[in-house]
Amino acid sequence: MVLSGSRGFRRKTADYLDQWGVFLKGFIEHPRMVGSIIPSSRFTIRKMLEPVDWDSCDLFVEYGPGVGTFCHPVLERMRSDAALLVIDTNPLYVDYLNRTIRDSRFTAVLGSAEDVEAIVADHGHKHADYVLSGLPFSTLPDGVGANIAAATHRVLREGGGFLVYQFSTAARDFMAKHFARIDSGFELWNVLPCKLFWGWKDGR
Ligand SMILES: C[S@@+](CC[C@H](N)C(=O)[O-])C[C@H]1O[C@@H](n2cnc3c(N)ncnc32)[C@H](O)[C@@H]1O
Repeated sequence: MVLSGSRGFRRKTADYLDQWGVFLKGFIEHPRMVGSIIPSSRFTIRKMLEPVDWDSCDLFVEYGPGVGTFCHPVLERMRSDAALLVIDTNPLYVDYLNRTIRDSRFTAVLGSAEDVEAIVADHGHKHADYVLSGLPFSTLPDGVGANIAAATHRVLREGGGFLVYQFSTAARDFMAKHFARIDSGFELWNVLPCKLFWGWKDGR
């Protein structure tokens, strides 16, 4: 369906306000779990996904997708037979994603990233090729960040990558216990400017 100019604009504005309203409501209800009042910028998205080898990616997992800021760019880059599995603890966000993303490669699960191994297995996969995280590691409840870093290392295939963006370096400290090789980056054009980390699970 092709919408005429002003109708198309009104629809896009309504979709944007809907998305923004859902994100804000989630932040107001669970500020420590969401950790940011504004979704990631397109600069952060581009830089974070740059090292991904899409040809070798069968399963891409995302923790804390929120309202899907990364989901669309990931789906645009992914092979047509690959899968994107996203996990979020907030039912508001999972409902929104299921309502707005209609792509057979996409699955949104209500749950915690701590349970990634069971969630990946339940969806018929042996391992993940890449895991992306926008989780606020520094404000998560005690022990949760450490559990997530350990479970992520176990669920990745050898050669797979853990892609993390955060305002602080807390995530890197958790990653360093499991990933011997971690690349770092920085994105200024984000509210707030953020740190990027790529942890690589080296083959034996
Ligand atoms: C900063 S928001 C990220 C939003 C989005 N990815 C972006 O880039 O704009 C953090 C998200 O992590 C989710 N979250 C917090 N703890 C979680 C956990 N243990 N497992 C999965 N998701 C979690 C929150 O509900 C929220 O959607």
